[in-house]
Amino acid sequence: RKPLSLPRLADMHARGEKITMLTAYDATFAAMADAAGVECLLVGDSLGMVCQGLSSTVGVSLETMCYHTESVARGLRRVQGTAWVIGDLPFGSYHESREQALRSATALLQAGAHMVKLEGGGWTTDTVRFLVERGIPVCAHLGLTPQTVHALGGYRVQGKGDEGAARLREDALALEAAGASMLVLEMVPAALATELTARLKRCATIGIGAGQGTAGQVLVMHDMLGINLGKMPRFVRNFMLDTGSVQAAMQAYVRAVKDGSFPVDALHAW
Ligand code: KIV
Ligand code: NA
Repeated sequence: RKPLSLPRLADMHARGEKITMLTAYDATFAAMADAAGVECLLVGDSLGMVCQGLSSTVGVSLETMCYHTESVARGLRRVQGTAWVIGDLPFGSYHESREQALRSATALLQAGAHMVKLEGGGWTTDTVRFLVERGIPVCAHLGLTPQTVHALGGYRVQGKGDEGAARLREDALALEAAGASMLVLEMVPAALATELTARLKRCATIGIGAGQGTAGQVLVMHDMLGINLGKMPRFVRNFMLDTGSVQAAMQAYVRAVKDGSFPVDALHAW
């Protein structure tokens, strides 16, 4: 298998082949997901909750993100994996200035990421352009942005109503124009995610709780394996239930995303 790359992902997007993504935080699970055919591994700052036991992602440090990114990259090297690795820029690591964002992104790339992800619209557009101009692939993230949970007032659907939808639309188009090549849409109405997916030609939408109309899907790996300390979000499917092994569950996830049988709008979206 050939390693995933930005051109290969753009080609999948252009052909309408669904892009599969799972989070990964360590070497073993990263290697297993790669073997199952998952194209993109997101070293998400959700590791703050999943691995560190924090109550939100706000307290995750850049150093911790680098540690887990290194583990994932080493796991992939061990098995000659082909997955595209995305490192999450944690809260506070890109908010100060574009230069700070560049330094933080550089640390994630040096740890083994191929792309960095950051949350939000508005002011982040300048940051995205700054990084992309310097050769760093960027994944944006709109809708429910967990790093701003305190401002949002909880983990709830975003982009509802005319005003919310208009703001999200504007942000998404600006991020594409700034050069973001992927855009995670988290907990937004399926109709809006579908509309944005059609409008963004140079930026692949990756949905989580955003319905079946996006160019790709992402889930927190532990969630799709049925391992969760709290309440399982409604948009998750437990792929372990019908499969019985981690490897088979990951393969079932890839199949279901590719053939469009996950997610089912009525069950997993708004
Ligand atoms: O940190 C994370 O896991 C994420 C995904 C849920 C998109 O940002
Ligand atoms: Na994240």
